[in-house]
Amino acid sequence: MAKEIKTIGVLTSGGDAPGMNAAIRAVVRKALVNGKKVKGILKGYSGLLNEEIIDMSANDVSNTIERGGTILFTARCKEFMTEEGQQRGAEICRKHGIDGIVVIGGDGSFRGAQKLANLGINTIGVPGTIDLDISCTEYTIGFDTAVNTAMEAIDKVRDTSTSHERCSIIEVMGRNAGYIALWCGIANGAEDILLPENYDYDEQKIINNIIENRKRGKKHHIIVNAEGVGHSASMARRIEAATGIETRATILGHMQRGGSPTCKDRVYASMMGAMAADLLCDGKTNRVVGYQHGRFQDFDINEALNMVKGIDPYQYQVAKDLSRHCQENV
Ligand code: ADP
Ligand code: F6P
Repeated sequence: MAKEIKTIGVLTSGGDAPGMNAAIRAVVRKALVNGKKVKGILKGYSGLLNEEIIDMSANDVSNTIERGGTILFTARCKEFMTEEGQQRGAEICRKHGIDGIVVIGGDGSFRGAQKLANLGINTIGVPGTIDLDISCTEYTIGFDTAVNTAMEAIDKVRDTSTSHERCSIIEVMGRNAGYIALWCGIANGAEDILLPENYDYDEQKIINNIIENRKRGKKHHIIVNAEGVGHSASMARRIEAATGIETRATILGHMQRGGSPTCKDRVYASMMGAMAADLLCDGKTNRVVGYQHGRFQDFDINEALNMVKGIDPYQYQVAKDLSRHCQENV
């Protein structure tokens, strides 16, 4: 028989992502609508182990949907990777009367949720990461805002790069995944896009292209490089030495994680947070919410963590085809 849930806990874990506040707000308000109590756990699993737990009312999430970051703060917690830490976490949940938890974070955070579920605390994961690297879902909270932020920044770098007739390597986040780089590469009309998943790039070919384009009068050469490929500064030095064209590396960094969430991130995060609260209220556990084939769905965490997704080869091919250095594009 499904366990009756009286109190729901909510935490954010791993890297923050714009839209996490919309998800927290939805968990809090949907749980309250369903007649449950809500507790906010500060600073991810680290706050759980330190018992940094607060009661949450509908008012506590007022004026938060438009704010970047996470009002519950976030952290990475080594202690929670140990069996002892996980058992202590489950005991603390019981001590505070928390029967179910919504964990908003990435794959790593879901592994923590899985451990809590095995220890009898009902858990639901909500995908929150700018990296889009969670296999069971085509959408993760924060990706839309992050790619828009990066796209605007790359447009700005392009202005100055063109004025100085330089080559620019712009490194975007994504850890080991190239989704941000691929999307920005297409959106910014980059001449080259370097992805960790498609390590097929040939630096000499890039150098030849830059020289050819310059001969044809092209004023800039934008290379969007994923952080999983890295080495942007040394690559810039090598390209400048080989082409004689001034080359600069710009690492966009954490600015990609901040800022007010886009409409899509606010709405999708609200849907996912609400669904997570409903799933807990229905007695579900060890599930993760995802968005696939145009609808919000839930999956078993064990199955979700074993799913594999990669860069869509057609999207990558389109990106390459659109950046072809043909005469008409100069
Ligand atoms: P993300 O959730 O964005 O993938 P991390 O991989 O850093 O970020 O994971 C966030 C936190 O989740 C970790 O600091 C740790 O507390 C917890 N976690 C990660 N992996 C595990 C695991 N295998 N078992 C238990 N907890 C884990
Ligand atoms: O997972 C989100 C992310 O921003 C990655 O893109 C990046 O590799 C990492 O987090 C950076 O982590 P930190 O904030 O610890 O530097």
